Amino acid sequence: MKLYFLFIVVPLVGASANAAENHLVPAGASIDSPQSSHLLSRLSSLHQKFKDNWGNAVEQDRHTVTIRASKNDTDDISDDLLWALKKANQGGLVHLKKGKKYIIGRKLDLTFLKDVYVRIDGELKFTNDIKYWQANNFYYAFQKSITFWVWGGKDIKIYGSGVINGNGQAWWDGFSGAEILDPNNKFYRPILFLTDNATNIEISGLHLKDSPCWTTFMVRTKNVVFDNIYIDAVSKNASSLPKNTDGFDSLNVDGLTVTNTRVNVGDDCFSPKPNTTNIFVKNLWCNGTHGVSMGSIGQYPGVKDYISNAWIENVTLLNGQNGARLKAWAGPDVGYGYIDNITFKDIHIENTDAPIVLDQCYFNINKTACAAYPSKVNITNVNFLNIYGSSSGKKGNVVADLICSPGATCSGIHLEDIQITSPSGSPSQIVCDNIQGDIGVECLPVNKADG
Ligand SMILES: *[C@@H]1O[C@H](CO)[C@@H](O)[C@H](O)[C@H]1NC(C)=O
Ligand SMILES: *[C@@H]1O[C@H](CO)[C@@H](O)[C@H](O)[C@H]1NC(C)=O
Ligand SMILES: *[C@@H]1O[C@H](CO)[C@@H](O)[C@H](O)[C@H]1NC(C)=O
Ligand SMILES: *[C@@H]1O[C@H](CO)[C@@H](O)[C@H](O)[C@H]1NC(C)=O
Ligand SMILES: *[C@@H]1O[C@H](CO)[C@@H](O)[C@H](O)[C@H]1NC(C)=O
Ligand SMILES: *[C@@H]1O[C@H](CO)[C@@H](O)[C@H](O)[C@H]1NC(C)=O
Ligand SMILES: *[C@@H]1O[C@H](CO)[C@@H](O)[C@H](O)[C@H]1NC(C)=O
Ligand SMILES: *[C@@H]1O[C@H](CO)[C@@H](O)[C@H](O)[C@H]1NC(C)=O
Ligand SMILES: *[C@@H]1O[C@H](CO)[C@@H](O)[C@H](O)[C@H]1NC(C)=O
Repeated sequence: MKLYFLFIVVPLVGASANAAENHLVPAGASIDSPQSSHLLSRLSSLHQKFKDNWGNAVEQDRHTVTIRASKNDTDDISDDLLWALKKANQGGLVHLKKGKKYIIGRKLDLTFLKDVYVRIDGELKFTNDIKYWQANNFYYAFQKSITFWVWGGKDIKIYGSGVINGNGQAWWDGFSGAEILDPNNKFYRPILFLTDNATNIEISGLHLKDSPCWTTFMVRTKNVVFDNIYIDAVSKNASSLPKNTDGFDSLNVDGLTVTNTRVNVGDDCFSPKPNTTNIFVKNLWCNGTHGVSMGSIGQYPGVKDYISNAWIENVTLLNGQNGARLKAWAGPDVGYGYIDNITFKDIHIENTDAPIVLDQCYFNINKTACAAYPSKVNITNVNFLNIYGSSSGKKGNVVADLICSPGATCSGIHLEDIQITSPSGSPSQIVCDNIQGDIGVECLPVNKADG
């Protein structure tokens, strides 16, 4: 049975092997049979057919589809990539080679995928044709998000030593002075990597560079894993810094894992948004960011949002605005919901304005309005364990600021082993308000604290 399968079914197609199919293969593309179909490796692997973590073929048992590289920064290969993904779908592998550049200049609907590997050792780069992309993109009503492409389907691995480059500079320059949450903003910028309706998707090894807006956004997705990723967004123009280039965002996602990852961006490092459950983060490094945040949630009137079951462990947060943070909207026209069962453990924070913060007066709302229209997001069972390092001193001696909404339940907030110093002086202070029950450490009401 095994011999029959191995010798008869393995396809041996090369770009030039089949004349009838030749005209369907784009110039410079090829389809090669799996390494494991070569005679010697077939004999030696007869008794060990490996499967990946989803029960599919491993890399060496997959046929490999390659495409030509781009000749210059406008030489668009998006049709070739789409062709390759269709050819590799259902058991194959697309390989983008080291040292080569692949330019994407057209929007791509990649929601048809099922059991595919995409190995990126070269650089995938988007054109910065702002006019084209603002007219051609995929739009999501949530915070008016747009993207270049959408990844969806089942069992998708994207990995390698390469780069996905959003070519963000022109976008940051164009956006300069604008605000993403300003209702009048019309200068939409694409998200670099977006999944929608995906189940089982793993992204590893890659450098996600210079996203015009959020770096990743997962929507309606189940089981997404990022491992060993490097994200940065660095401007060459001092008068237009990257904005809203968050590391990780999500909406209606169950199972979001980020491990062994470094993020160097000027906005949220990791910030799951509404309806994200079963979150696992370990060994994350964030520099210059707005922190690891649960939320914001509760933005849209009448809409119920939640975030639950998050485990955040061994995170380093340097030179940022916030460290470990929870944020929920308040105001006359916002939503409601809950954040429940969140643990921050072993968090090293340095030179950060607000190392620990629970903010229920998001976004851009003053104290008077927040008191009149308090947040309706309940916050329950949140642990801050072994959080250490230093603040920037910007908030005086205050290193933790936990001010719950009088309009919602806030209970089961627990702090333990908090050792954060402030350059403004000692002892450092923990501020709390409207929390039911003991929080495990001494804390001051807001009017007794400085900063
Ligand atoms: C880029 O390469 C394409 C494809 O070879 C070519 O048509 C185009 O003229 C080149 N553009 C520039 C600016 O060199
Ligand atoms: C989601 O993807 C599945 C296949 O993975 C498909 O059957 C279904 O129609 C998709 N749902 C939507 C809303 O696109
Ligand atoms: C830098 O950004 C500013 C603001 O968008 C823009 O006016 C200027 O042209 C940019 N400088 C360069 C060298 O591109
Ligand atoms: C914590 O994460 C850092 C990366 O930020 C890593 O170098 C270190 O080994 C991790 N520590 C443990 C105990 O896993
Ligand atoms: C960290 O971010 C600061 C600015 O916030 C920057 O000056 C510094 O180079 C970054 N460090 C690393 C290692 O990327
Ligand atoms: C979150 O899920 C609830 C259903 O539990 C749904 O009504 C709501 O629209 C979702 N929120 C968002 C922003 O999609
Ligand atoms: C809380 O979240 C953790 C994951 O961080 C999970 O293992 C645990 O079951 C959750 N607890 C409850 C009561 O759901
Ligand atoms: C918030 O907590 C209150 C009091 O326990 C409860 O009545 C309400 O249903 C909760 N809201 C949500 C969205 O879970
Ligand atoms: C607070 O914001 C509200 C609503 O935007 C505004 O009407 C009010 O004047 C503001 N109050 C203060 C003290 O700034």
